[in-house]
Amino acid sequence: MTGDLYSGVSNRGKAHHVLDVDDLGPDGIEEVLSLAERDPRSLVRSLEGAGVALVFEKPSARTRNSSELAVVALGGHPVYIQGAEVGIDERETAEDVARTLACYHRVLCARVMDHTSLVRMAAGLDAAGVPVPVVNLLSDRAHPCQALADLLTLRQHFGTEGARDHPVAYIGDANNVWRSLAIAASMTGIPTRIASPGGYGPSAEDVALVRSFGGDLVVTGDPAEAAVGAGALYTDVWSSMGQEDEVATRRVAFAGFCIDEGLLARAASDAIVMHCLPAHRGEEISAGVVDGPRSVVWQQAANRMHSMRGLLAWLTGPGPASGSEQ
Ligand code: CP
Ligand code: NVA
Repeated sequence: MTGDLYSGVSNRGKAHHVLDVDDLGPDGIEEVLSLAERDPRSLVRSLEGAGVALVFEKPSARTRNSSELAVVALGGHPVYIQGAEVGIDERETAEDVARTLACYHRVLCARVMDHTSLVRMAAGLDAAGVPVPVVNLLSDRAHPCQALADLLTLRQHFGTEGARDHPVAYIGDANNVWRSLAIAASMTGIPTRIASPGGYGPSAEDVALVRSFGGDLVVTGDPAEAAVGAGALYTDVWSSMGQEDEVATRRVAFAGFCIDEGLLARAASDAIVMHCLPAHRGEEISAGVVDGPRSVVWQQAANRMHSMRGLLAWLTGPGPASGSEQ
């Protein structure tokens, strides 16, 4: 008999949870993006023989597939778990789900309806002294894995320094994707703007949070104002998963907030167009723009895998010689 209750091994002594992108810290973001750009064959197979739990309370194409392949690239075994199978706070508490999965897995990744579930899973593991990190695969509040892929995409186009001269204009709902993107941009010196209809813009708390990382954020109700001279136009669905009963109301509220050819013409001549996907052509983005030459949406989708591999390597690998220890 062995006394090993948990498979988790942290190179940082205690688990480094990633519930939003700022949990990585500025150094962590740089290290993750650097690992993401490395030839996967040059990475330490830090998940060799280990499991990674991928819990999904909501559907996913990109996040599930990119995460599974990222785990495999590091030698690990991904286990996809539908939300109903574990039943967070239905079959058992979020804390008990986390402690159970931590018995088998080196990392616990989850896409949840309620961000608080992730907070409780992380706190439950910390309280029990279990060194298994929790990674947010999207919650109603944040989408840090998407933000990492988006940063990677912006830097591939404009360079690390150049990205700081290419403001990102987000047109639409101040949602999970916007929040993580704006925080990541603020942390890395990329100016952002957001244009939303009344009642769907960022809260004062969100604005203060984004600005607290030192970046420039402009908030407006006018998409044209946000788009002028922007280096990237970004949008996401008007109704996120879990807001299905608001679809009709939001379609009315967001009319005029479509990234179309007219809006793109206001952006910088080298501007790119971004969307986390899935896209709704004719709503938040026109077909001509999302499928047009300035669109980088497939590069973003591909970068989901590279950035996830970088994140998992950072969480479970040998770690940097110094810095970012928690
Ligand atoms: N962008 C994104 O997270 O896509 P999925 O919902 O398909 O994972
Ligand atoms: N804001 C969207 C993003 C989907 C990837 C949602 O939460 O449904």
